[in-house]
Amino acid sequence: MKVRKAVLPVAGLGTRFLPATKASPKEMLPMVDKPVIQYVVEEARLSGIEQVIMVTGRGKRAIEDHFDTSYELESLLEKKGDHKLLREMRAISNLISFCFVRQNEALGLGHAILCAKEVVGNEPFAVMLGDVIMDSDKPALKQVLDIHYRFKGPVIAVEEVEQSEVSHYGIIRPETLEDGVYKILDMVEKPKPEEAPSNLCISGRYVLPPEIFGLLEQAAPGSIGEIQLTDALKALVGMGPVYGCRVEGRVYDTGSKLGFLQATVELALKNPEFGDDFRNYLKGLKL
Ligand code: G1P
Repeated sequence: MKVRKAVLPVAGLGTRFLPATKASPKEMLPMVDKPVIQYVVEEARLSGIEQVIMVTGRGKRAIEDHFDTSYELESLLEKKGDHKLLREMRAISNLISFCFVRQNEALGLGHAILCAKEVVGNEPFAVMLGDVIMDSDKPALKQVLDIHYRFKGPVIAVEEVEQSEVSHYGIIRPETLEDGVYKILDMVEKPKPEEAPSNLCISGRYVLPPEIFGLLEQAAPGSIGEIQLTDALKALVGMGPVYGCRVEGRVYDTGSKLGFLQATVELALKNPEFGDDFRNYLKGLKL
């Protein structure tokens, strides 16, 4: 069955990026020349997704506005005769079909996904974390979907991280099936380095069956009163094979200050318009 829908949880409060995110959504922070979330939506579209379901919350209206038509802006650009920019603005609102649902309590990633249950219905779907940018030749979600279609089961994107970093992520216990493809035997959310079953972390793209909703409903709130997606995924592993797919490309966690800066520098260097000038500027810095 074709995976048509992608759920993007974007209701998080962005506490790791305060004070920048006190009144602005972290997903709307400008990454070179467009908001972070636009990279994720473009990846969804390039991966063949037909509908993006955003799970938003209070203070996140700017995300909806960004993907909506801006009549004032369009008529101004039309009057000025700036047809290039006008086309660009129209393309953003025509990127893909959107649906917005609200998460009215901050009860964690698992709860956010559960908020999309009615809109997803009874079909497999993708989950894309709205602050993770994946820069790759073949869109990251497409890589994950290809493994899903080949192995006919749920797939989670994974990436290698330093041992010192494992406590920031969900970490899998893998059995290697082929280069970059794993059967997931177990997973631990944010383990201590000495307790991590590997250095492969869950990295922000998932293809899940609708059965995950029942598992999320059963998942007890964890230590900080949140429903963890990882708990439901662990239960899913007990029901049948779940696969890990090591994504080829660069993964940026733009919800962290350092990850955001790394993404900004590396993506700016690749920008066709001013990448070379930026490179020359960086070379001139006495580092
Ligand atoms: C979430 C997931 C975690 C995953 C991470 C990737 O954690 O719970 O398993 O490794 O995203 O960014 P969060 O960053 O929301 O704490």
